[in-house]
Amino acid sequence: MAKIQKIKGVADLFPEDSARYAFMEKTARDVFSSYGYGELRVPILEKTELFCRSIGEETDVVQKEMYTFPDRKGRSLTMRPEATAGIVRAYVENKIFQPGKVSKYFTFGPMFRYERPQAGRMRQFHQIDSEVFGAAEPQADAEVLLMLSSFLSKIGLEKLSFELNSLGCPECRPKYNQALKDFLSSLDREQLCEDCQRRMDTNPLRVLDCKSRNCKALTEKAPTLPDHLCGECREHFDTVIALIDEAGLKYTLNPRLVRGLDYYQRTAFEVTSGDIGAQTAVAGGGRYDGLVESLGGPKKVPAIGFACGMERLAMLLQGEFEPATDFYVALVDERAAREALIFGEKLRRSGLKGEVGFTAKSMKAQLRYANKINAQKCFIFGADEYENGTVTIKEMTDGGEQATVVRDEYFK
Ligand code: HAM
Repeated sequence: MAKIQKIKGVADLFPEDSARYAFMEKTARDVFSSYGYGELRVPILEKTELFCRSIGEETDVVQKEMYTFPDRKGRSLTMRPEATAGIVRAYVENKIFQPGKVSKYFTFGPMFRYERPQAGRMRQFHQIDSEVFGAAEPQADAEVLLMLSSFLSKIGLEKLSFELNSLGCPECRPKYNQALKDFLSSLDREQLCEDCQRRMDTNPLRVLDCKSRNCKALTEKAPTLPDHLCGECREHFDTVIALIDEAGLKYTLNPRLVRGLDYYQRTAFEVTSGDIGAQTAVAGGGRYDGLVESLGGPKKVPAIGFACGMERLAMLLQGEFEPATDFYVALVDERAAREALIFGEKLRRSGLKGEVGFTAKSMKAQLRYANKINAQKCFIFGADEYENGTVTIKEMTDGGEQATVVRDEYFK
């Protein structure tokens, strides 16, 4: 029968790969919980409207990339393209908000975007996401950036670039939008790509995010957001910068950084790497103070967060990630199968990790396997051991010393 193959843009993660993901998740869990964050698991499937309303009708994600389908009763559902919208929905639906209360969440899991697959760009990919609600202060922005930086350095990635911008607020953004529209209408419209011709009218900010080299060149002299910030946004951004300067975080200001999702206000950021090909962004995030309200929650609940792309981080991780193995129990004489199995159980109960051979094989083959799994010690069950109630212990490190002991006495 014909084999069934996986669909385009998804991956099977076998232990060599999934170990990297487990390492990143464990590190994120440790780092984020040290800042008072707790894990929130939200559904992968949500109503389509959630993403249209939060991410924005005019974004590439909503226009071209969502996995949307009717369920059996004809309701439109979407496989989440990102985690923020679902977390905000859960926050609002469960009435978490109370004045003065700060709530901090993280989540891990698969996201789905119908993009053209290439290195670092998948249709099913994984994010480590974190969000904080109820903190409007610039200290929250600074802490979020420092937490992200701390996570990245704890997984061994120090050579990444932080880029920062402020996207303004409902007060100053419309004025900037007008300035940008004026600039864009001074250009020869036909020279912009088709998407940008549409964006010019619907959401001019998106033009700055266009990947086309031509559009980039044409808009090189476009007015920038930071030059149009209102007094409060300016002060907020300046304070964030002063705080992260003081904390020693290295970054560059990128006045063209606009992000691919529409819910952002004020601080927005991306972390990039020059070492993973065309898809350089390993993490992105920012403040989204209006989203809780636009998803039916109370007014003025400030929020900020970020997400890291695990596939892209995994490409940068160095070293071994499979867990070390303490032992291998080598079954050389078939009669000792039961003793070997029970001995392995006792080793594990004493806190060690390892494997037991199920089939009797030659000593050579078993030692080769013990080496392959990086076992520190090999416990051998051959004919002599079976008959004498002993076990032979071979150190798998340099000297390779070997000793035979009475089995019952090993755990005393
Ligand atoms: P985003 O910039 O769309 O932001 O995605 C965050 C990260 O996910 C990207 O920097 C990238 O590393 C990874 N990523 C995105 N698309 C793909 C893909 N097709 N294949 C592989 N990796 C990908 C968000 O999703 C926001 N929800 C972040 C956020 C949280 N903002 C506030 N809170």
